Amino acid sequence: MKKYDYLIVGAGLFGSIFAYEATKRGKKCLVIEKRDHIGGNCYTQNVEGINVHKYGAHIFHTSNKVVWDYIQQFAEFNRFTNSPIARYKDELYSLPFNMLTFNKMWGVITPQEAEAKIKEQIAQESITEPKNLEEQAISLVGRDIYEKLIKGYTEKQWGRKCTELPAFIIKRLPVRYTYDNNYFYDTYQGIPIGGYTGIFERMLDGIEVKLGVDFFTEREYYENLADKIVFTGMIDEYFGYQFGKLEYRSLRFDNEVLDMPNYQGNAVVNYTEAEVPYTRIIEHKHFEYGTQPKTVITREHSKEYEEGDEPYYPINDARNNELYAKYKELADEKSNVIFGGRLAQYKYFDMHNIIAEALECVNAHFR
Ligand code: FDA
Repeated sequence: MKKYDYLIVGAGLFGSIFAYEATKRGKKCLVIEKRDHIGGNCYTQNVEGINVHKYGAHIFHTSNKVVWDYIQQFAEFNRFTNSPIARYKDELYSLPFNMLTFNKMWGVITPQEAEAKIKEQIAQESITEPKNLEEQAISLVGRDIYEKLIKGYTEKQWGRKCTELPAFIIKRLPVRYTYDNNYFYDTYQGIPIGGYTGIFERMLDGIEVKLGVDFFTEREYYENLADKIVFTGMIDEYFGYQFGKLEYRSLRFDNEVLDMPNYQGNAVVNYTEAEVPYTRIIEHKHFEYGTQPKTVITREHSKEYEEGDEPYYPINDARNNELYAKYKELADEKSNVIFGGRLAQYKYFDMHNIIAEALECVNAHFR
């Protein structure tokens, strides 16, 4: 008999929920995590009394009541509403595109005026079949919004000119003819009071967790410890990259502690001009209405993924999707391994999606 029922590789959201639910059902779990902390990309670190979102801004939002009720058992959430600001040179605009944005851009007051202005801009270009992302964006919102709020930001995000990016990347651009700058449409939204890490501490309370352990460096040893494995790492790495490597975009975060209580007055400011090298600045204290004497800001740079970088965003183009399908076929044959989470499924998931996925997986598994 093996020492554990489950070896869980990765103490992120998927792995931690699985560990919590399996333990609740009387199973013995061991969680290994290659980083020196739990929480995966949701991890928050206390700096100057401020909960810093170490791997990028994390705003919880969902319309799924089951998911919302589930996460509430691990934390109380505040009423944070994501209302990012776009900065283009010295002009500030509200996001997502709404009446405040249109008023600033053209001085229009009523929804009818705004709609007419956008229609006029789209008609001026007479694009019938957009050949690239630039044409696609202009055909949806017109040239002014494209030039000031989309072009530079998108080019920094992808590291390529909008004219070289495929049109399908932007399927639709939400345009709101109301004065509502709540970024998300979801019913529930907020930030866990005290940061995200506490959620993971509560989920993993009483469960054996080993930090700083990479599954691949002692693979045989760990595989032999448990009857089943829940793997939330990179699927291509699990199979020894035998069909080739899946591609990602990465990010670089430059953090700075500033000796002032308030730097930019908002949690998220997007820099939409190409000349500023970063895509946005996050000021972490505003996620929790912090009143600390200092502040922590993060300049977020989008970058090509290189060896040693964090694999943040999968590039789900035809080549990578085909490659993933091959790995998925191998994964489906392994009856003692559950592949879960964003890296093992090579897909971007929001937190609420991961919770739903993990609960579905648990329910199917322990039926
Ligand atoms: P996650 O990556 O969190 O966890 C996997 C864990 O496995 C990691 O801790 C990793 O170190 C570990 N691991 C991997 N390989 C291993 C190995 N070989 N051995 C041991 N351990 C290993 N969502 C949202 O709802 N609102 C938001 O605002 C944001 N914002 C956001 C910003 C950025 C920049 C990103 C990249 C993502 C978001 N998200 C988000 C998404 C959110 O981060 C995501 O849904 C969850 O973190 C996914 O949880 P997982 O458990 O799948 O992966």
